[in-house]
Amino acid sequence: MKELILNNGIHIPCIGYGVFRMTDLDACEKAVLQALKTGYRFIDTAAAYENEEAVGRAIKRSGIKREELFISTKLWVSDTSYEKAKAGFYRSLERLGLDYVDLYLIHQPYHDYYGAYKALVELYQEGKIKALGVDNFKQDRLADFLFFNDTKPAVNMIECNPFYQRDDEKEYLEKNNMQMLAWSPLAAGKASVFENEILKEIASHHQKSVAQIVLRWFYQRQIIPIVKSANPKRMKENIEIFDFELSNEEMKLIGNLDTGHTCFHERDTAQKVNHFLEQSLKFKV
Ligand SMILES: NC(=O)c1ccc[n+]([C@@H]2O[C@H](COP(=O)([O-])OP(=O)(O)OC[C@H]3O[C@@H](n4cnc5c(N)ncnc54)[C@H](OP(=O)(O)O)[C@@H]3O)[C@@H](O)[C@H]2O)c1
Repeated sequence: MKELILNNGIHIPCIGYGVFRMTDLDACEKAVLQALKTGYRFIDTAAAYENEEAVGRAIKRSGIKREELFISTKLWVSDTSYEKAKAGFYRSLERLGLDYVDLYLIHQPYHDYYGAYKALVELYQEGKIKALGVDNFKQDRLADFLFFNDTKPAVNMIECNPFYQRDDEKEYLEKNNMQMLAWSPLAAGKASVFENEILKEIASHHQKSVAQIVLRWFYQRQIIPIVKSANPKRMKENIEIFDFELSNEEMKLIGNLDTGHTCFHERDTAQKVNHFLEQSLKFKV
Protein backbone atom coordinates (compact mmCIF):
# COMPACT_ATOMS: atom_id res chain seq x y z
CA MET A 1 0.00 0.00 0.00
CA LYS A 2 1.36 3.44 -0.95
CA GLU A 3 1.90 5.90 1.91
CA LEU A 4 2.01 9.60 2.71
CA ILE A 5 3.99 11.22 5.52
CA LEU A 6 2.27 13.20 8.28
CA ASN A 7 3.57 16.50 9.72
CA ASN A 8 5.36 14.61 12.52
CA GLY A 9 7.12 12.15 10.18
CA ILE A 10 4.71 9.24 10.74
CA HIS A 11 3.90 7.23 7.60
CA ILE A 12 0.22 6.71 6.79
CA PRO A 13 -1.27 4.41 4.11
CA CYS A 14 -3.03 6.19 1.23
CA ILE A 15 -6.33 4.33 1.77
CA GLY A 16 -7.98 3.35 5.04
CA TYR A 17 -10.56 0.66 5.75
CA GLY A 18 -13.46 1.85 7.95
CA VAL A 19 -15.77 -0.18 10.16
CA PHE A 20 -18.55 2.28 11.00
CA ARG A 21 -21.98 0.60 11.28
CA MET A 22 -20.38 -2.89 11.58
CA THR A 23 -22.20 -3.69 14.79
CA ASP A 24 -22.30 -7.46 14.26
CA LEU A 25 -18.99 -8.22 15.95
CA ASP A 26 -18.34 -11.56 14.26
CA ALA A 27 -19.03 -10.04 10.86
CA CYS A 28 -16.79 -7.09 11.70
CA GLU A 29 -13.92 -9.37 12.76
CA LYS A 30 -14.31 -11.41 9.57
CA ALA A 31 -14.41 -8.29 7.38
CA VAL A 32 -11.34 -6.72 9.00
CA LEU A 33 -9.42 -9.99 8.70
CA GLN A 34 -10.38 -10.16 5.03
CA ALA A 35 -9.40 -6.52 4.52
CA LEU A 36 -5.98 -7.18 6.06
CA LYS A 37 -5.52 -10.26 3.87
CA THR A 38 -6.50 -8.18 0.83
CA GLY A 39 -3.76 -5.65 1.55
CA TYR A 40 -5.31 -2.87 3.66
CA ARG A 41 -2.97 -1.77 6.44
CA PHE A 42 -4.92 1.21 7.81
CA ILE A 43 -8.00 0.25 9.86
CA ASP A 44 -10.23 3.02 11.18
CA THR A 45 -12.56 2.40 14.12
CA ALA A 46 -13.93 4.47 17.03
CA ALA A 47 -15.13 3.92 20.58
CA ALA A 48 -18.57 4.97 19.35
CA TYR A 49 -18.62 2.22 16.68
CA GLU A 50 -18.71 -0.33 19.51
CA ASN A 51 -16.56 -2.78 17.58
CA GLU A 52 -12.98 -2.11 18.73
CA GLU A 53 -12.79 -5.57 20.29
CA ALA A 54 -13.67 -7.22 16.97
CA VAL A 55 -11.04 -5.11 15.20
CA GLY A 56 -8.51 -6.15 17.84
CA ARG A 57 -9.33 -9.83 17.37
CA ALA A 58 -8.90 -9.54 13.60
CA ILE A 59 -5.55 -7.78 14.02
CA LYS A 60 -4.35 -10.57 16.29
CA ARG A 61 -5.60 -13.32 13.99
CA SER A 62 -4.00 -11.69 10.92
CA GLY A 63 -0.50 -12.35 12.27
CA ILE A 64 0.69 -9.14 10.57
CA LYS A 65 3.52 -7.40 12.42
CA ARG A 66 2.26 -4.49 14.51
CA GLU A 67 4.68 -2.02 12.90
CA GLU A 68 3.20 -2.78 9.46
CA LEU A 69 -0.27 -1.72 10.59
CA PHE A 70 -1.80 1.71 11.01
CA ILE A 71 -4.68 1.65 13.48
CA SER A 72 -6.85 4.64 14.27
CA THR A 73 -9.60 5.06 16.81
CA LYS A 74 -11.50 7.98 18.27
CA LEU A 75 -12.48 9.59 21.56
CA TRP A 76 -16.24 9.96 21.94
CA VAL A 77 -18.05 13.12 23.07
CA SER A 78 -18.86 11.84 26.58
CA ASP A 79 -15.11 11.35 27.24
CA THR A 80 -14.05 14.61 25.65
CA SER A 81 -12.61 16.37 28.70
CA TYR A 82 -9.24 16.51 30.45
CA GLU A 83 -10.55 14.31 33.27
CA LYS A 84 -12.02 11.57 31.05
CA ALA A 85 -9.89 11.48 27.90
CA LYS A 86 -7.12 9.21 29.20
CA ALA A 87 -9.60 6.69 30.62
CA GLY A 88 -11.45 6.71 27.26
CA PHE A 89 -8.18 6.17 25.41
CA TYR A 90 -7.07 3.28 27.65
CA ARG A 91 -10.46 1.56 27.29
CA SER A 92 -10.05 1.67 23.51
CA LEU A 93 -6.46 0.46 23.71
CA GLU A 94 -7.47 -2.48 25.87
CA ARG A 95 -10.38 -3.44 23.60
CA LEU A 96 -8.05 -3.30 20.60
CA GLY A 97 -5.48 -5.41 22.46
CA LEU A 98 -2.73 -2.95 21.52
CA ASP A 99 -0.13 -1.00 23.44
CA TYR A 100 -0.26 2.08 21.20
CA VAL A 101 -2.42 3.47 18.39
CA ASP A 102 -1.09 5.07 15.24
CA LEU A 103 -3.72 7.79 15.14
CA TYR A 104 -6.12 8.97 17.83
CA LEU A 105 -8.80 11.48 16.94
CA ILE A 106 -11.20 13.69 18.83
CA HIS A 107 -14.34 12.38 17.13
CA GLN A 108 -16.51 15.50 17.33
CA PRO A 109 -15.84 19.20 17.96
CA TYR A 110 -18.04 19.27 21.05
CA HIS A 111 -17.65 19.25 24.85
CA ASP A 112 -14.25 20.13 26.36
CA TYR A 113 -12.04 19.27 23.38
CA TYR A 114 -9.35 21.68 24.58
CA GLY A 115 -9.03 19.82 27.89
CA ALA A 116 -9.18 16.44 26.15
CA TYR A 117 -6.48 17.45 23.72
CA LYS A 118 -4.19 18.45 26.59
CA ALA A 119 -4.53 14.90 28.01
CA LEU A 120 -3.98 13.36 24.57
CA VAL A 121 -0.83 15.41 24.01
CA GLU A 122 0.52 13.85 27.23
CA LEU A 123 -0.24 10.36 25.83
CA TYR A 124 1.38 11.40 22.54
CA GLN A 125 4.52 12.49 24.40
CA GLU A 126 4.58 9.10 26.17
CA GLY A 127 4.44 7.33 22.77
CA LYS A 128 1.01 5.76 23.34
CA ILE A 129 -0.34 7.75 20.37
CA LYS A 130 1.84 8.11 17.28
CA ALA A 131 -0.21 10.90 15.69
CA LEU A 132 -3.04 13.10 16.93
CA GLY A 133 -6.05 14.07 14.91
CA VAL A 134 -9.28 16.01 14.98
CA ASP A 135 -12.46 14.93 13.27
CA ASN A 136 -15.37 16.89 11.85
CA PHE A 137 -13.69 20.20 12.65
CA LYS A 138 -14.64 22.98 10.27
CA GLN A 139 -12.12 25.69 9.49
CA ASP A 140 -13.44 28.24 11.97
CA ARG A 141 -13.14 25.86 14.94
CA LEU A 142 -9.84 24.52 13.72
CA ALA A 143 -8.37 28.01 13.34
CA ASP A 144 -9.17 28.75 17.00
CA PHE A 145 -7.89 25.32 18.06
CA LEU A 146 -4.59 25.73 16.21
CA PHE A 147 -4.13 29.25 17.53
CA PHE A 148 -4.22 28.09 21.16
CA ASN A 149 -2.41 24.73 20.91
CA ASP A 150 1.34 24.33 20.48
CA THR A 151 1.14 20.69 19.38
CA LYS A 152 -0.50 20.68 15.99
CA PRO A 153 -2.76 17.74 15.14
CA ALA A 154 -1.50 15.75 12.15
CA VAL A 155 -4.90 15.20 10.49
CA ASN A 156 -8.48 16.32 10.22
CA MET A 157 -11.03 13.71 9.09
CA ILE A 158 -14.06 15.22 7.41
CA GLU A 159 -16.86 14.21 5.08
CA CYS A 160 -15.70 14.39 1.47
CA ASN A 161 -17.00 12.82 -1.74
CA PRO A 162 -17.45 13.95 -5.36
CA PHE A 163 -20.65 15.83 -4.43
CA TYR A 164 -19.12 17.56 -1.39
CA GLN A 165 -15.52 18.20 -2.27
CA ARG A 166 -14.43 20.57 0.51
CA ASP A 167 -11.82 22.47 -1.55
CA ASP A 168 -11.78 25.29 1.01
CA GLU A 169 -11.12 22.90 3.90
CA LYS A 170 -8.48 21.06 1.89
CA GLU A 171 -6.67 24.29 1.11
CA TYR A 172 -6.80 25.37 4.76
CA LEU A 173 -5.39 22.01 5.93
CA GLU A 174 -2.62 22.12 3.33
CA LYS A 175 -1.68 25.65 4.42
CA ASN A 176 -1.40 24.32 7.97
CA ASN A 177 0.55 21.22 6.98
CA MET A 178 -2.23 18.88 8.12
CA GLN A 179 -3.39 15.81 6.21
CA MET A 180 -7.03 15.62 5.11
CA LEU A 181 -8.77 12.26 5.61
CA ALA A 182 -12.15 11.70 3.95
CA TRP A 183 -14.97 9.80 5.63
CA SER A 184 -17.71 8.16 3.54
CA PRO A 185 -15.68 8.75 0.34
CA LEU A 186 -18.32 6.94 -1.74
CA ALA A 187 -21.00 9.04 0.00
CA ALA A 188 -22.02 5.73 1.63
CA GLY A 189 -23.77 4.99 -1.68
CA LYS A 190 -25.99 8.10 -1.36
CA ALA A 191 -26.69 10.68 -4.08
CA SER A 192 -26.79 7.78 -6.60
CA VAL A 193 -23.02 7.96 -6.75
CA PHE A 194 -22.72 4.61 -8.56
CA GLU A 195 -25.28 5.72 -11.19
CA ASN A 196 -23.68 9.07 -11.97
CA GLU A 197 -23.29 9.38 -15.76
CA ILE A 198 -20.01 11.35 -15.66
CA LEU A 199 -18.40 8.89 -13.26
CA LYS A 200 -19.74 5.94 -15.27
CA GLU A 201 -18.32 7.36 -18.49
CA ILE A 202 -14.87 7.93 -16.97
CA ALA A 203 -15.02 4.44 -15.43
CA SER A 204 -15.87 2.87 -18.77
CA HIS A 205 -13.00 4.77 -20.46
CA HIS A 206 -10.49 3.30 -17.96
CA GLN A 207 -12.25 -0.07 -17.69
CA LYS A 208 -12.58 0.51 -13.96
CA SER A 209 -15.56 0.78 -11.62
CA VAL A 210 -17.11 4.04 -10.44
CA ALA A 211 -15.76 3.35 -6.94
CA GLN A 212 -12.23 2.99 -8.35
CA ILE A 213 -12.58 6.30 -10.22
CA VAL A 214 -13.69 8.08 -7.06
CA LEU A 215 -10.93 6.53 -4.95
CA ARG A 216 -8.32 7.37 -7.58
CA TRP A 217 -9.64 10.96 -7.65
CA PHE A 218 -8.94 11.13 -3.89
CA TYR A 219 -5.45 9.73 -4.40
CA GLN A 220 -4.65 12.32 -7.06
CA ARG A 221 -5.92 15.06 -4.71
CA GLN A 222 -3.64 13.71 -1.94
CA ILE A 223 -6.62 13.04 0.33
CA ILE A 224 -6.80 9.75 2.22
CA PRO A 225 -10.22 8.07 1.85
CA ILE A 226 -11.54 5.79 4.60
CA VAL A 227 -13.69 3.37 2.66
CA LYS A 228 -15.88 0.51 3.82
CA SER A 229 -16.95 -2.63 2.04
CA ALA A 230 -17.99 -5.87 3.66
CA ASN A 231 -17.76 -7.61 0.29
CA PRO A 232 -14.35 -9.26 -0.47
CA LYS A 233 -14.59 -8.52 -4.20
CA ARG A 234 -15.36 -4.83 -3.66
CA MET A 235 -12.75 -4.63 -0.89
CA LYS A 236 -10.11 -5.74 -3.40
CA GLU A 237 -11.47 -3.49 -6.15
CA ASN A 238 -11.23 -0.46 -3.85
CA ILE A 239 -7.45 -0.72 -3.48
CA GLU A 240 -6.73 -1.52 -7.12
CA ILE A 241 -6.39 2.13 -8.07
CA PHE A 242 -2.67 2.53 -8.56
CA ASP A 243 -2.40 1.23 -12.14
CA PHE A 244 -4.12 4.07 -14.00
CA GLU A 245 -4.31 7.86 -13.95
CA LEU A 246 -7.13 10.34 -14.36
CA SER A 247 -6.34 13.11 -16.85
CA ASN A 248 -6.60 16.81 -15.91
CA GLU A 249 -9.79 16.93 -17.98
CA GLU A 250 -11.30 14.00 -16.06
CA MET A 251 -10.28 15.58 -12.74
CA LYS A 252 -12.08 18.77 -13.86
CA LEU A 253 -15.21 16.85 -14.88
CA ILE A 254 -15.34 15.25 -11.42
CA GLY A 255 -14.60 18.66 -9.89
CA ASN A 256 -17.78 19.96 -11.55
CA LEU A 257 -19.89 17.44 -9.59
CA ASP A 258 -19.41 19.42 -6.37
CA THR A 259 -22.67 20.73 -4.90
CA GLY A 260 -21.04 22.31 -1.86
CA HIS A 261 -23.52 20.48 0.38
CA THR A 262 -23.26 17.52 2.68
CA CYS A 263 -24.76 14.18 1.59
CA PHE A 264 -25.72 13.59 5.23
CA HIS A 265 -26.93 15.97 7.94
CA GLU A 266 -25.58 19.43 8.53
CA ARG A 267 -25.43 20.23 12.25
CA ASP A 268 -25.80 23.94 11.82
CA THR A 269 -28.54 24.92 14.26
CA ALA A 270 -28.72 24.79 18.04
CA GLN A 271 -31.61 22.36 17.78
CA LYS A 272 -29.64 19.90 15.62
CA VAL A 273 -26.55 20.13 17.83
CA ASN A 274 -28.61 19.61 20.98
CA HIS A 275 -30.34 16.61 19.44
CA PHE A 276 -26.99 15.13 18.39
CA LEU A 277 -25.45 15.68 21.83
CA GLU A 278 -28.43 14.09 23.59
CA GLN A 279 -28.11 11.04 21.31
CA SER A 280 -24.32 10.97 21.68
CA LEU A 281 -24.58 10.39 25.44
CA LYS A 282 -26.51 7.18 24.83
CA PHE A 283 -23.52 5.48 23.19
CA LYS A 284 -21.90 2.76 25.31
CA VAL A 285 -18.28 3.82 25.05
N1 LIG B 1 -15.24 10.38 11.54
C1 LIG B 1 -16.49 10.37 11.24
O1 LIG B 1 -17.27 11.18 11.76
C2 LIG B 1 -16.98 9.35 10.27
C3 LIG B 1 -18.30 9.37 9.79
C4 LIG B 1 -18.69 8.43 8.86
C5 LIG B 1 -17.77 7.49 8.40
N2 LIG B 1 -16.49 7.47 8.90
C6 LIG B 1 -15.48 6.48 8.43
O2 LIG B 1 -15.59 6.33 7.01
C7 LIG B 1 -15.77 4.95 6.72
C8 LIG B 1 -16.54 4.73 5.45
O3 LIG B 1 -17.77 5.38 5.49
P1 LIG B 1 -19.16 4.75 5.06
O4 LIG B 1 -19.17 3.31 5.34
O5 LIG B 1 -20.20 5.62 5.66
O6 LIG B 1 -19.25 5.04 3.50
P2 LIG B 1 -18.45 4.66 2.14
O7 LIG B 1 -17.18 3.96 2.41
O8 LIG B 1 -18.47 5.90 1.35
O9 LIG B 1 -19.48 3.67 1.45
C9 LIG B 1 -19.75 2.39 1.92
C10 LIG B 1 -20.90 1.84 1.09
O10 LIG B 1 -20.51 1.69 -0.27
C11 LIG B 1 -20.57 0.31 -0.66
N3 LIG B 1 -19.39 0.03 -1.47
C12 LIG B 1 -18.09 -0.01 -1.05
N4 LIG B 1 -17.27 -0.25 -2.08
C13 LIG B 1 -18.06 -0.40 -3.17
C14 LIG B 1 -17.80 -0.68 -4.52
N5 LIG B 1 -16.56 -0.87 -4.96
N6 LIG B 1 -18.86 -0.77 -5.38
C15 LIG B 1 -20.12 -0.60 -4.94
N7 LIG B 1 -20.44 -0.33 -3.66
C16 LIG B 1 -19.41 -0.22 -2.78
C17 LIG B 1 -20.59 -0.49 0.62
O11 LIG B 1 -21.35 -1.66 0.45
P3 LIG B 1 -20.69 -3.14 0.67
O12 LIG B 1 -20.16 -3.18 2.07
O13 LIG B 1 -21.85 -4.05 0.45
O14 LIG B 1 -19.62 -3.29 -0.38
C18 LIG B 1 -21.32 0.47 1.58
O15 LIG B 1 -22.72 0.38 1.40
C19 LIG B 1 -16.48 4.43 7.98
O16 LIG B 1 -16.46 3.03 8.09
C20 LIG B 1 -15.72 5.13 9.07
O17 LIG B 1 -14.48 4.48 9.33
C21 LIG B 1 -16.09 8.38 9.81
